[in-house]
Amino acid sequence: MAVSQSRRDFAANLLMLVTLVPGFGIAANYLLRFLVPEKSQRSEQVLVGNLGDLQIGTSRFLKAVHGNDLIAVRISRDEVKVFSSVCTHLGCRVHWDSVEGDFLCPCHEGRFNTNGEVIGGPPPTPLPAFPVKIDGNNLFVTVPIKEA
Ligand code: FES
Repeated sequence: MAVSQSRRDFAANLLMLVTLVPGFGIAANYLLRFLVPEKSQRSEQVLVGNLGDLQIGTSRFLKAVHGNDLIAVRISRDEVKVFSSVCTHLGCRVHWDSVEGDFLCPCHEGRFNTNGEVIGGPPPTPLPAFPVKIDGNNLFVTVPIKEA
């Protein structure tokens, strides 16, 4: 009887060990990926439009570039800024408010200035900005390539 009990305990412990070890390994992998994000995210400079199509003081949504939803605003003759159009609060789409000269998120009245910084409402962080290059009439934006 004692021998049978011992074998059952051994088998139960072995089964528990066999199932727990891979589980801990998977959990540790997810934890490491969360704590140490990949640093080598690839990016690409993409032609997104003509400068002439964007008047000073106006904005334009840009086609989804590598999975990034973007909004461009022309600040002056030689300055265009491009940000993610996804609000950092709950993900609504921000719009350019040409009267106030800032970005408005209509969902909870979040506001961002022309540097993407939060100036009102609940958004916790600025709008991500993307490097812009103007070459003649061509407008280029450097965006990260999001993996599918
Ligand atoms: S989703 Fe933009 S302010 Fe709430």
